[in-house]
Amino acid sequence: MVRNILITGGAGFIGSHLVRLFVNKYKNYRIINLDNLTYAGNLANLKDVENSPNYVFEKADICDFSAIQSVFDKYAIDSVIHLAAESHVDRSITDPFAFAQTNVIGTLSLLQTARTAWKSFENKLFYHVSTDEVYGSLGKEGFFTETTPYSPHSPYSASKASSDHFVRAFHDTYGLPVLVSNCSNNYGPYQFPEKLIPLFINNILHNKALPVYGKGENVRDWLYVIDHARAIDTIFHGGKTGETYNIGGFNEWKNIDLIRLMIRVTDRFLGRREGESEKLITFVTDRAGHDLRYAIDSGKLKNELGWTPSLQFEEGIEKTVEWYLNNTEWLDSVTSGAYQEYYVKMYGNRTQQ
Ligand code: NAD
Ligand code: TYD
Repeated sequence: MVRNILITGGAGFIGSHLVRLFVNKYKNYRIINLDNLTYAGNLANLKDVENSPNYVFEKADICDFSAIQSVFDKYAIDSVIHLAAESHVDRSITDPFAFAQTNVIGTLSLLQTARTAWKSFENKLFYHVSTDEVYGSLGKEGFFTETTPYSPHSPYSASKASSDHFVRAFHDTYGLPVLVSNCSNNYGPYQFPEKLIPLFINNILHNKALPVYGKGENVRDWLYVIDHARAIDTIFHGGKTGETYNIGGFNEWKNIDLIRLMIRVTDRFLGRREGESEKLITFVTDRAGHDLRYAIDSGKLKNELGWTPSLQFEEGIEKTVEWYLNNTEWLDSVTSGAYQEYYVKMYGNRTQQ
């Protein structure tokens, strides 16, 4: 089947892996990557596919309704996989309006365009890529399932929860064929070094302090980004319209344990004594509203659609550390300019405990 698939946010971290997977795997699909290239969007992430005949890039803002309508008309879009978003919790605490604008209004503008551009909903699909953070925080026990009530705490997760609700409302009200997936924390190549794993690898490389929030007791459930892209592929092709699928690797790590593992691996690759960089660990003031624990039950995705993660965490971390250390040009380019101001703003004024 020939398809014209609009992938939004394709120049970002997860989006670039998804674009690469679809462009290489489905030669009969035309992939239209729409991204307005914020600080987190980078076309260098897609160098290897930019000349593929089934790939095009459109620079546009998802909030710009008429620009989105033009793209739908120009390429006869029949499917949307929507990833474009403001994605970093810390930034949402300092600038919540940007998150409401992009994540809520931007999603609404895409939904409204799809609803009006598609004269019939046959063979059409609007897939929203979301996060497990919409479910809030777990205590020491239990997992998020697809029926866990929403209870977002950060402006980021509140904006993603709102966009999920709009997607489902368009299904329930207008019959728009939708899918939603909620995934746990991703890691791997091309992640902007503001999120924990690439930030800390970059800081270890440059012998900079590693700012651990609170006591480092918070727990996250980590998934290799390519396994997330594979899950999206599986759900896009086999998911039941109107349904939600949780994506996760049953891979929980307490931050401080993960940080120590990262330090050991990075020290080894750098030829330092393993554990030498532990001296860089700096406990700083906790993040406001910091969710204690995320853990995803992805049993539905496994049982109904047969997806399982392909990579063990220790192997994934080795590959990830190796990638960043082999791609210091990429790291240097994304951490130049405005990043320095961001860094001072975020970490320069945190008081040491
Ligand atoms: P990212 O910040 O790396 O990339 C976001 C991309 O969206 C960038 O390329 C950016 O330029 C683009 N973008 C932002 N605002 C835009 C706008 N107004 N118009 C057009 N493009 C815009 O994010 P990511 O980590 O790759 O996350 C992608 C999606 O997956 C997000 O929706 C996020 O909520 C979701 N998600 C992320 C994770 C994770 O661990 N990173 C986990 C689960 C779900
Ligand atoms: P992050 O990568 O920002 O993802 P999220 O907040 O969406 O889960 O953070 C992962 C965990 O690491 C989270 O518990 C916050 C913590 N963290 C730090 O301790 N220090 C840091 O500098 C950052 C960015 C995160």
